[in-house]
Amino acid sequence: MKGIIFTELIEMTESTFGDEIAERMIMESGTHSNGVYTAVGTYEFAELGALVHSLSQITHMDLPTLLRAFGRHLFGSFLRLYPAYFQRCQTSFEFLSSIEDHIHVQVRKLYPDAELPHFQTSVNEEKNHMIMTYTSARNLADLACGLIESTLQHYNENGTITRMHDTGNESVFFHIDLL
Ligand code: HEM
Repeated sequence: MKGIIFTELIEMTESTFGDEIAERMIMESGTHSNGVYTAVGTYEFAELGALVHSLSQITHMDLPTLLRAFGRHLFGSFLRLYPAYFQRCQTSFEFLSSIEDHIHVQVRKLYPDAELPHFQTSVNEEKNHMIMTYTSARNLADLACGLIESTLQHYNENGTITRMHDTGNESVFFHIDLL
């Protein structure tokens, strides 16, 4: 997993819960890196799980809630770091449809060792309903959910995001209905 994910998690923890909790999250996670991550470095995915788990123990907040909040934080970071990806799209559906074939493709060019999820998207004719299928061995659908929520907000759209789990494989379906 790329270092940016770790540096952003630590930053969110510092700004939401304070420096002391961020320090404890790192210490009590038992991770090798001791909180030292560089944006371009690559670290074991298990470290992310250990950090979020540790934060959950300290704050008594459940993992899905923390991962969703992290997704919303990460959206703000992506917006700041890569504004062009957002400017080229006019709507949330257009943006969300561009992740698999454009954004994450560029990410992979930049970081060939990035561990990216797969998204399949289909938008209905009236353009107010979208199904986004998330597939990844890393089970970060809650993170994806936070990113999707912030996407709607960014494009000033209101809607509901209903999550459906396909028990047959590791895919999660997000049904997005705009109001
Ligand atoms: C400008 C926008 C975006 C950029 C630059 C970006 C970039 C990245 C990067 C660098 C990673 C880490 C890969 C690794 O650590 O190896 C990642 C992972 C991920 N991205 Fe994106 N991303 C963007 C938008 C989104 C959006 C809007 C979603 C959700 C709808 C999304 C879903 C995810 C998920 C869930 C992961 C975690 C890996 C996994 O689940 O397998 N990304 N992305």
